[in-house]
Amino acid sequence: MNAPLDQHTGLPVVAMVGGGQLSRMTHQAAIALGQSLRVLAGDAAESAALVAADVQLGDHRELADLRRLAEGATVVTFDHEHVPTEHLRALEAAGHRVAPGPAALVHAQDKLVLRRALAEAGEPQPAWAEVATVHQVAAFADEVGWPIVLKTPRGGYDGKGVFVIDGPDEAADLLEEHGALLAEERVAMVRELAAQVARSPFGQVAVWPVVETVQRDGVCNEVYAPAPGLADELASAAQELAVRIADRLGVVGMLAVELFETAEGIVVNELAMRPHNSGHWTIEGARTSQFEQHLRAVLDYPLGSTAMTAPVVVMANVLGGATADADFAGPSLDERVHHLMAHWPDVKLHWYGKGQRRGRKLGHVTALGEELAEVRARAVAAARYLADGVVDPAFAFDDEH
Ligand SMILES: Nc1ncnc2c1ncn2[C@@H]1O[C@H](COP(=O)(O)OP(=O)(O)O)[C@@H](O)[C@H]1O
Ligand SMILES: [Mg+2]
Repeated sequence: MNAPLDQHTGLPVVAMVGGGQLSRMTHQAAIALGQSLRVLAGDAAESAALVAADVQLGDHRELADLRRLAEGATVVTFDHEHVPTEHLRALEAAGHRVAPGPAALVHAQDKLVLRRALAEAGEPQPAWAEVATVHQVAAFADEVGWPIVLKTPRGGYDGKGVFVIDGPDEAADLLEEHGALLAEERVAMVRELAAQVARSPFGQVAVWPVVETVQRDGVCNEVYAPAPGLADELASAAQELAVRIADRLGVVGMLAVELFETAEGIVVNELAMRPHNSGHWTIEGARTSQFEQHLRAVLDYPLGSTAMTAPVVVMANVLGGATADADFAGPSLDERVHHLMAHWPDVKLHWYGKGQRRGRKLGHVTALGEELAEVRARAVAAARYLADGVVDPAFAFDDEH
């Protein structure tokens, strides 16, 4: 079946399930390619629903809504992992293109499926076990030592569904509530890394430099590109690992491999098969952003150059802070944006248009430069000013702004 094109533009229509910031930034990239993203959003106030022209309101768990989205679209893709696998198979059976396909995507949806696949492939990962009883949890902990990490196999994000536990009692409640869980050793890590690769159906792959990601409370806060001080061999090993996984699983689109760096090397934490927080820096920091590359890959276009545009790039997330509180008495968002632009003319702002709440990802900023400490200081100060309305003393504001 020939993939449908938009009758007016003569170009493809990519339909994305999910209306969050990843979808919003993919839409931004689609515009430059002459396209307009079709978005399935749960609510008209979602980040991408606010800006895309072709928004369908619906539920990503409802097959009827997914069928409506896919009708007339060239390809269906995702800004999150939460679509039931059987619905994706039904779309494929009806002749729609789904990228990544369900057979690949399940490895980003289900952490137990991923652990089994990596074990079969002989790829490095933490010690793990599937556990359904307190007895199994205790037996696993006897092998690897307390504390251990328990994870819900499906549905988690931003650290929700990840529990560090010190003894079997805590496991009982979690097993009761969630059923079978993934148990992992708590990895003694030096830091967290991410390796991103795009893969097209043709089999072309493109990798970006490996980055360091900094999580707080399970939420990505900062990303440094390239990962500072990472040995060349380890960087190449991480990139090759990402390409091997993408090929083996038949990924189409973006793949982010979340990694832990340990004293012995790297192990795989989990996968995302979509644009990912660890790649936001590519909008300004690489010739081709992860969002454009995702579109190219799912459409089987040739992939773009991933070369960096500066020696050092730092992305800092803006997480809802003091300014999200109802009684916040400092500068308004509009004033903060104004000050930010005046003070850091070279820092790039991406604001997602979401309602403000403590801890919520509201936007991100990107800074480019030569030297990590300087670039990071700028990015972090700008993000913190937006989130808390507090000015870092190193960047004292003068009165004229
Ligand atoms: N086995 C582990 N050992 C140590 N820390 C871990 C382990 N698994 C997860 N974490 C920490 O929790 C964070 C979130 O876990 P992850 O499995 O990536 O869940 P999510 O789907 O919420 O991103 C990780 O980025 C890491 O900081
Ligand atoms: Mg994660």
